[in-house]
Amino acid sequence: MAKKRIGILTSGGDCAGLNACIRAVTHHACHKGWDVTGILYGTAGLMRRPPAIMELTPDMLDTSYLRRAGTILGTINTGDPFAFPMPDGSLMDRSAEVIEGYRQLNLDALIGIGGDGSLAILRRLAQQGGIDFVGVPKTIDNDVAQTENAIGYATAVQVAIEALDRLQPTAASHDRVMVLEVMGRDAGHIALNAGISGGADVILIPEIPYSLEKVAEKIRAIRAGGRNFGLIVVAEAVKTAGGDAVTRSLSGQTRYGGIGQYLGDSLGELTGAEVRVTVLGHVQRGAEAVPQDRLLATVFGTKAVDLIDEGRFDRMVAWQNRRVVDVPLADIVNHSHQVDPDGPLMRSARQLGISFGD
Ligand code: F6P
Repeated sequence: MAKKRIGILTSGGDCAGLNACIRAVTHHACHKGWDVTGILYGTAGLMRRPPAIMELTPDMLDTSYLRRAGTILGTINTGDPFAFPMPDGSLMDRSAEVIEGYRQLNLDALIGIGGDGSLAILRRLAQQGGIDFVGVPKTIDNDVAQTENAIGYATAVQVAIEALDRLQPTAASHDRVMVLEVMGRDAGHIALNAGISGGADVILIPEIPYSLEKVAEKIRAIRAGGRNFGLIVVAEAVKTAGGDAVTRSLSGQTRYGGIGQYLGDSLGELTGAEVRVTVLGHVQRGAEAVPQDRLLATVFGTKAVDLIDEGRFDRMVAWQNRRVVDVPLADIVNHSHQVDPDGPLMRSARQLGISFGD
C-alpha cells in the first residue's frame, strides 16, 4: 500500500472530543506509515500563504488528548469561503484560494471534523477542487442527519445535567422556579435529554410549540401539590409566545440567546413564583470529554482513516444501531436530525408528567 499524506481540520463550533478524534486519526494513519498534516483554523488556514499547518505525530498526541477540551488545530464557525465577509462589508467567493492552499500541501486526502454546515461547505469545496474528502460529525447540537450521535453531544448533555443537579437544591432552599437555557440551535436534543435526566418539570424544545399558559398551569399544579420548587429547561431556539426567535447579533453573526429570561419574566408574572434564570452557554462546549465522546471520537477517527485506505470518499462516518458505519455525504446535506415528537424519550417523559407546554 502506497504511503499517503493526509490532512485533517476541525471546523465550526468547538466541542469536547475533537482532540480525541485528531489523536485517533493520527495514531491510526501513522501506524500505517502515512503522514498527517493538521490544518489550522479550518478553511481559514488554507487561505493563508503559506497555508497554516502543523505536522501531527503519535508522540505529540498522548493519552491526555483523549480528555483535553477544545481543538489543538483551532476552528472557526464563520467565514464561509463561498461567501467570505470582506472588510468593506461585501461577500466574496474565496473557494478557489482554499482549494489552491490545499493543493500546495500535496495531500492525498482530507478529513474534516464538523457539523452539518461545515460538512456541506467542505463537501462543496471537495467537489469543486477534486479533493478526496471524508467527513466526521461533531456538534453539541447533535443535529447532523444520518448519525444517532455526533462527537461532543454527550458531554454537553452531561454539563447541562450537572447544572440541573446544582440548581435543584438552591431552588428548593429558596422556594424558586429555576429556568435553565441550553444550547442546541434548532434541535432540542440537549434540552430533552438533560431535562429528563436532571429532573426537569418542564422542557421546552423548538420541535414542539408551547403556550405560556400551559407552562404556568404546570407551575401552579406543582405548588398546589405541595412542592415548593420547579425546574424548567428551555432550548435556545424556542420562540416567544408571539412566535419570534430570540436572537442577538454577535460579531456580525446572528446567534440565539435570551429565551430563558423571556420565559422567566413571563412565568413570574403569570404565576407569582420567584423565578431565576441561568444561561448555560459555552460551558457546554468546553468540558473534558465524557467516556461516550472519547469512544465515539476514537471510533470515528479510525473509521475515517479506513475509508481513505479503501478509497471511499464523499462519505461521512456515522453511528447507527450501535455500530460505526459510513453514509454518503449527499444524504446529510440539507437534512437535519431533530427530536422526534413521537419518539420513545418523548413518550417516557410525558408518562412521567413532564410538561412540554403543549
Ligand atoms: O452549533 C454549536 C453552538 O454551540 C450552538 O449550540 C450555538 O447556538 C452556537 O454554536 C453558538 O455559537 P458561537 O460560538 O458563535 O457563540
